[in-house]
Amino acid sequence: MSKKDARVFETKTIEATDDGMKEAQNEAVALLQRGEIVALPTETVYGLAADALNADAVAKIFAAKERPRFDPLIVHIASMRDLERVAIVPEEIRDIVNTLANEFWPGPLTIILPKTDAVPDIVTSGLPTVCVRQSGHPIFRGINKALGNPIAAPSANRFGRISPTSASAVMKELGGRIPLIVDAGACNEGIESTIIRIEAREGKKPIFYLHRAGPVTKEQLQKFGKVEKAKPSDKLQAPGQLESHYAPLTPFRLIEKPSDFTPDIGKSYGLLSYTGEEGGAFVRAHRWDQVVALSPGSGKLAEAAIRLFYAMREMDEMGLDEIIAEPVSEIGLGVAIMDRLRRASVQM
Ligand code: TXA
Ligand code: MG
Repeated sequence: MSKKDARVFETKTIEATDDGMKEAQNEAVALLQRGEIVALPTETVYGLAADALNADAVAKIFAAKERPRFDPLIVHIASMRDLERVAIVPEEIRDIVNTLANEFWPGPLTIILPKTDAVPDIVTSGLPTVCVRQSGHPIFRGINKALGNPIAAPSANRFGRISPTSASAVMKELGGRIPLIVDAGACNEGIESTIIRIEAREGKKPIFYLHRAGPVTKEQLQKFGKVEKAKPSDKLQAPGQLESHYAPLTPFRLIEKPSDFTPDIGKSYGLLSYTGEEGGAFVRAHRWDQVVALSPGSGKLAEAAIRLFYAMREMDEMGLDEIIAEPVSEIGLGVAIMDRLRRASVQM
């Protein structure tokens, strides 16, 4: 995006509390109908929304985020009827799509499906497929229903940066670039949706290719099919998933064991710890300038997921020379957390 394309706004925040709820919904819907973009809460992270069927509106998302046009967006539907408008569900996976929708929608599961002609190419970066999910956030759902059209919404951060899990984080990322942020407090999942592609198999349960680990875990999906890593050839279809992502501005490094860390003299280091417990091997490995715990004390993966991006942002503002992250165990939600930690520690 060149400077002359930059649009300048005095970004307004409306709190979608009891009093502000109707106002927030009405303003957001009015802006979306006019082809504008607005930041909305979802249960995973805040999204930057546009009418998915309006190519000009969707172009504004790419501009505000400085997102390359080759990185496609997720389309959010308000009902199963809207699924037909954006996706062609092949006969051989119809039953399993319905089963997964019954089980996980509305919620943080995104399914890759062949797209209909109604979806502009800019949404899918020219791919023949579209990513679809139904958000479970009541505010998002209300706005999606009232708009009557599906909503394209990537996370409401500048490209490559940490996804926002609060309205204030959105303001830091996109303040001055968008007209409105609907503030509904902290997101209750904290990491982006799980993304899968489904492949039917004769006489066997289907295969779910995992394109992004998320709140719906492998363990949960295994009840309905075989979960496999996305094929590398498939992944090339979505370059956004390959790159360094979720990166703080402060150098960030995930280490495997405490002995992997050797401090440079005079540098300040912060530890992004799982529990922050005094006796923990990572906490004891160094006299850290700061220790931030993802799930203080007992260590709960669900709490760690909710706090992950918040904690990364907080540490990014501490003026440290480097942030060192300790691993969490890769079971359940731990898979999605480790995926984010790994990608944050890939330097571009
Ligand atoms: O939880 C979420 O999914 C949030 C909220 C706002 O819904 N959205 C989100 O969007 O995380 P975004 O744009 O940050 O991530 C979408 C991912 C990207 O990595 C993109 O490459 C991938 O989905 N994607 C989109 N369309 C695709 C397609 N047709 N095939 C494969 N990957 C696709
Ligand atoms: Mg994103």
